[in-house]
Amino acid sequence: MEQYMIKGGNPLVGEVVIGGAKNAALGILAAAVMTDKACYIDNIPNVKDTRTLLQAIEGIGGLVERQNTHRVMISGSTIQNSENLVIDDEFIRKIRASYYLLGALLGKYKRAQVALPGGCNIGSRPIDQHIKGFEALGAKVTIDHGMIIAEAEELRGSHIYLDVVSVGATINIMMAAALAEGKTIIENAAKEPHIVDVANFLNSMGANIKGAGTDVIRIRGVKELHGTDYSIIPDQIEAGTFMMAAAATKGDVLIKNVIPKHLDSISAKLVEIGAYVEEFDDAVRVISKERMKSTQIKTLPYPGFPTDMQPQMAVTLALSEGTSIISESIFENRFKYVDELSRMGAKIKVEGNTAIIDGVESFAGANVVAPDLRAGAALVIAGLCASGVTLIDKIEYIQRGYEDFEGKVRALGGIMEKVETEQEIKKFKFQYAV
Ligand code: EPZ
Repeated sequence: MEQYMIKGGNPLVGEVVIGGAKNAALGILAAAVMTDKACYIDNIPNVKDTRTLLQAIEGIGGLVERQNTHRVMISGSTIQNSENLVIDDEFIRKIRASYYLLGALLGKYKRAQVALPGGCNIGSRPIDQHIKGFEALGAKVTIDHGMIIAEAEELRGSHIYLDVVSVGATINIMMAAALAEGKTIIENAAKEPHIVDVANFLNSMGANIKGAGTDVIRIRGVKELHGTDYSIIPDQIEAGTFMMAAAATKGDVLIKNVIPKHLDSISAKLVEIGAYVEEFDDAVRVISKERMKSTQIKTLPYPGFPTDMQPQMAVTLALSEGTSIISESIFENRFKYVDELSRMGAKIKVEGNTAIIDGVESFAGANVVAPDLRAGAALVIAGLCASGVTLIDKIEYIQRGYEDFEGKVRALGGIMEKVETEQEIKKFKFQYAV
């Protein structure tokens, strides 16, 4: 299996260009099947999750023509409106966001079947709010043999109050409501940048969605949607990950192709712990020369500090001076990386949804295993800061959300290679005299 091999100690210095937002792309790619016309979508991150969703779309007969690494044409014209619109287990097991096709297919064909997504390494990940929304729109939702079956004679607009701020439920309900009769209001909606991007994409197809980015989204259903040519926003979390890596390695990095506003909570916390952050129109520069200071973090829905940045922040604080506290309010099991970090010398105690972090001077490289996507990215940052060599296993998790991570790190002066054979490991050790 492929692994990342990292020799730590080099501060990251230089420029990095951020790719398209994975969590916007997954909603947008699914929404594209809601029209029979051609949807051209650009700035798609070339990561495992987007490749898997495109396979799922082809699996139900959707037309997918790759124009280049980051651009695709999708049309739903070749999907047969029949009983067998089934997103099967294979795709759901790979990425739970395949369930976005439920909202898209229900909206367009008034029927869809998707394998029930399991939990994953960060929590149980229920979908009760998605089902609540579909039922409010008039769909009958049943769960049978691990499949969710949603069907409706017709979908009628409704006033839906989400019990939990849910990104997935907000996007899924927004898609189904876009082609429902009448007006839908989603209260307590998620406000993440990717919600706004999916709403903008649907509006570019002729939908009528207002208020995305606030906690009340108003949708007037339309008869049908047309084609579009759309470019996805930059990835807030990839940008945040490189900001954290710059600070943790005491580097100086210009992170390009970002929307600084989307990074406000991350920039604010970096400044609070002693980093220097400079904002430009579509870039941020992060510089740190001194050891970082401690702080308190509570993960919250946007615009609060993002849960997807929690592990990366934890690594930075684990090397900071003093004691920091992180409380994870979104997911119930998002500290699995702590055991791995402890092998590198971190001093972190987890009590329930809170991590108490006693900063240490340095990490020592070790063999570690990525428990999930963002924890894996955090272990890369830890390896870049550690003395000696760190070998990270199960990097397929990291490859779900980071395109050419090792190439971007190397371009910033980090020593990081993707290795698979003993030969490649030996070559790395010889090349870097470790
Ligand atoms: C999205 O997951 C992201 N994934 C996650 O990013 C991100 O961590 C999460 O939003 C929060 O920002 C994608 O966009 C593909 P939620 P999602 O529904 O939609 C509870 C990454 O690293 N909940 O906002 O599944 C749920 O258990 C990934 O890129 C219900 O109770 O998250 C959680 O506690 C990891 N019932 C909270 O809401 C529901 O029906 C937020 O979940 C749905 C959710």
